[in-house]
Amino acid sequence: MSPLSKWISYFIKPRETLSKPSKEGSAKVTVESMVNSAIKSEPAIKVTSKRFKDLPPSQTPHIVPIELSPPEIRGEVKPEKQSTTEKTARLGKQKFKKIAEGAAKVVWKKTGIKNVVYLTPKKGLLGLWTLIKRAEIKSEMQKVRDIQYKLIHEQIPEISKKDALRLVNHREYTLEGIKEMPTQTLASILHCSEEQAEEILDKLIELDLSESHLALDMREASSDEQIDQQFTVVTPRASGSFEDDESPRGLDNSLSLSLQLLSGMKDLHRVGYVHGDLKPENLLRYDTIDGVRLKVADFGKTKPLRPNKDSLYAGNPRYAAPEGRLSMKGEVYSSALIIIRFLEQELLSKEKPMLLLPERTDTKVKLGEKNGRPRMGIERFLILNKDSPQTEVLNLRGKFKVYGRDIRQIFIKEHKDYTQAEESTHLYVDELIAELSELYKGREDQLQEVGNLLKEMVHSDPSKRPSMEEAYNRFKEAIALLPDT
Ligand SMILES: Nc1ncnc2c1ncn2[C@@H]1O[C@H](COP(=O)(O)OP(=O)(O)O)[C@@H](O)[C@H]1O
Ligand SMILES: [Mg+2]
Repeated sequence: MSPLSKWISYFIKPRETLSKPSKEGSAKVTVESMVNSAIKSEPAIKVTSKRFKDLPPSQTPHIVPIELSPPEIRGEVKPEKQSTTEKTARLGKQKFKKIAEGAAKVVWKKTGIKNVVYLTPKKGLLGLWTLIKRAEIKSEMQKVRDIQYKLIHEQIPEISKKDALRLVNHREYTLEGIKEMPTQTLASILHCSEEQAEEILDKLIELDLSESHLALDMREASSDEQIDQQFTVVTPRASGSFEDDESPRGLDNSLSLSLQLLSGMKDLHRVGYVHGDLKPENLLRYDTIDGVRLKVADFGKTKPLRPNKDSLYAGNPRYAAPEGRLSMKGEVYSSALIIIRFLEQELLSKEKPMLLLPERTDTKVKLGEKNGRPRMGIERFLILNKDSPQTEVLNLRGKFKVYGRDIRQIFIKEHKDYTQAEESTHLYVDELIAELSELYKGREDQLQEVGNLLKEMVHSDPSKRPSMEEAYNRFKEAIALLPDT
């Protein structure tokens, strides 16, 4: 999105879903209610380093159809009178049902096809709004291709950057589909012999980007399968996002999800991109027979950025790093908050919505909720904490305040001291590790390592935080520590 259209979109409509202020906004949590909360856990799964091996073998049953336009969705496009913001859309005889919606996209599912969803731009009252959103999805598709080809070239140097780009631009094949590509086709794309193509294909199958923890497997719909004559993207269907599912998962599953998040993010950073809008809504959940798989999705605000550079942060303020700038180290901070959310979930309940009360609680702050669920855990703690800059953006005025702060920072590199906020976040992590150690006897050493890493990841000074790659490696080492028996 161009800076101008970005500005226009801020004026037209706030990017966050507006939600009613929660009645619980200034609710006090009593120590008794915290102590009384019942804690239930899932049966523990034995932890071995093998179990948490990165990119486990194929578990995702989602295969994007390889044909450009499957016969069942070919046909005449009858423009619908109703807009795509309504519940259904139509393409020929096919009906599509809206299953989710974000700030930029509407997600459709077609009955009969279980494995894929269709993403179209969100429509607004003004045509301009739809145009902006369409441009956003188109540019996202471009960025996704760029990330794909960089990952392929980096992992398989025999494929030059140029060839890798040609490969991902081959519209008929998705990341999943590449595995099925005839060697002849691959040889013609790469201008090599069939024997060479065969070797490269083996490597592509081994690399299996469709199994990465980045939701990169998407393709552009051809013009005759576009919903509502809109630019449409086809992608494997997730079971939902981590915003709609906050069910407690037990320590091993939460640790596994955390590692998957770090795995996806380290891949993204390695090819020189920052995500730009890390939050549970943008983490897709794939429920498989082998457990839950996580994929980092929504590359709308993703952009290339060097490791030591920072830029304007326009993502969600709830998960933003305190310095309010977009950077790789900022995303290390955001990832830590998400990991804390995963780990603490089984310790929380309605009576105990967070592990600690901030020492300096802001009683005036409005706590938002999403889909009727109040903000919980570390998210709630930071919003209520007077010392931390995280906010729940509820209205346009609040939005300007948050963006206002960021925009000022382009000109004035103000260095506010967030050591106070850091200290209270550390107390929160200590409490988390203490409570989990109580619950999971024999896992103390492992939990201690995880706690120490999380504390470094939320360091108030971005330069003192580990890189995403370091965080990933250390997290992996920590959870591979065998429990004392
Ligand atoms: N592949 C998918 N399968 C199922 N649900 C999805 C999928 N992709 C996105 N969603 C849902 O739609 C929401 C919006 O998608 P997202 O890519 O984040 O778009 P936006 O840029 O509008 O935020 C997500 O928060 C998620 O709940
Ligand atoms: Mg999103």
